[in-house]
Amino acid sequence: MKNDKSRREFLNNALGGAVGITLLGGANFAEAQTRRSNPKVNSSGAVVVRRDISTMKPDDEQLLMFKEAVRVMKRRSEKNPLDPGGWMVHAAHHAIFCATQDYNIQVHYNWLFLPWHRAYLWNLEKNMQTVIGEPKLALPYWDWTRSPRIPAAFWGDDNPLNNVTRLQRGQDELPADFLDVAPILRASNFKFFGGFPKTPEPSDQIEGIVEQGVHNNTHNWIGGDMAGFSSAGSDALFSTHHGNLDRLWEAWLKIDKTHKNPAEREWLDTVFTFYKPDGNVRRVSVKDLVDTKSVGYTYDSLDFRMTLPTRNHAALWNSSDTNKAQIVKVAMNHHRHMEMTMALAGGGRRVVLQFERAQVPVHPLCIRAFFNQPDANRNTDVNTPFYAGTFTFLPIGSPKAGLETLVTLQMEVSSEVAEILHKQRDISISLVPVPLRGRVLPETTLQIKAAKLKFADE
Ligand code: C2O
Repeated sequence: MKNDKSRREFLNNALGGAVGITLLGGANFAEAQTRRSNPKVNSSGAVVVRRDISTMKPDDEQLLMFKEAVRVMKRRSEKNPLDPGGWMVHAAHHAIFCATQDYNIQVHYNWLFLPWHRAYLWNLEKNMQTVIGEPKLALPYWDWTRSPRIPAAFWGDDNPLNNVTRLQRGQDELPADFLDVAPILRASNFKFFGGFPKTPEPSDQIEGIVEQGVHNNTHNWIGGDMAGFSSAGSDALFSTHHGNLDRLWEAWLKIDKTHKNPAEREWLDTVFTFYKPDGNVRRVSVKDLVDTKSVGYTYDSLDFRMTLPTRNHAALWNSSDTNKAQIVKVAMNHHRHMEMTMALAGGGRRVVLQFERAQVPVHPLCIRAFFNQPDANRNTDVNTPFYAGTFTFLPIGSPKAGLETLVTLQMEVSSEVAEILHKQRDISISLVPVPLRGRVLPETTLQIKAAKLKFADE
């Protein structure tokens, strides 16, 4: 889009629901999301290989194809904002399922998060192949664990991949603790990893650690369009960020043979609906997508950088922010709530902490969690066994309805800390808000109604 304001207005209108749903073919379109059926996936049989955009030279054929496809899609939207092969419709499609307060079609905060976004990217890849007439096009990914800067390909004037709303610049690096994939890759079951089934009560849902950690952290860190569900799809970075999350899912399955996708029909038979550039509908079910090769793509590598560099990450914060760090202390009696849930992947006791019904702040909020560190503050080093993770709350829409105000957090606790916690009656958790450029830390603390510790081997 030439003009950011008109695009935002368009998206805001599209989001209201009525316009968005009309745009994408009527209310039945949204209902199709959950209809059970077994659509045939049309695949040409060709498999494209997705590669890391940070490693591509400016004249890399894959990079040039990707850029050209975004350019063509943006041009199509300029001519006609409702063009199903245009960038605006692509962006609005994400908003419909991701910025919605209608929990029936919401694909965040539950186990549809990974498959829906896989389908969304796959549809984009197919549409890009069509709009530039190039079946060899593969969507690039951005492996932030190896290259924590926004890749060079996304900057520069007259670059369709650029987005002027971002709050970071080319030299800024994502803090390493935002990208800690080690506990994610250790997650012993899909639900802890990728989210729990949808629940009748929106407020009971539990998102996976992929989503609450590296996914939300990176969206929020980038800022601008990427920091909001209603606008995120319009930044071309979105597809490379989610490409890497999709790749993380493949890596999780590969890293341990006990890691398995859900076998429940409810998950496997969920159908997602998208548009082809000619306006025809493309439908795909989760079970068709679990083997990426069968739908036409694969990854060049599944290696992630697993270890956090040993340095004080506090040094990376934008310290010109003078707001005081807030600390939330949660005292709880874990013996009352102990549950046996997780099987161990690598030996040693592993504990999962669930904060129940954390009230999501109105603005995105990034926090780091520490156990029994009452003095933790923004300068506290994350290289301690008492560090439990860095998470971001991304609110949706109004702060009133259930879906966007209540979220359950999960985090892994080191075996060392688990031993200590096990012997204690009450445990305190310090949640330290992380200051980020251009962001205001909330005045009020997070309201956490209950917290639950689950011991893995009891
Ligand atoms: Cu539907 Cu990364 O968001």
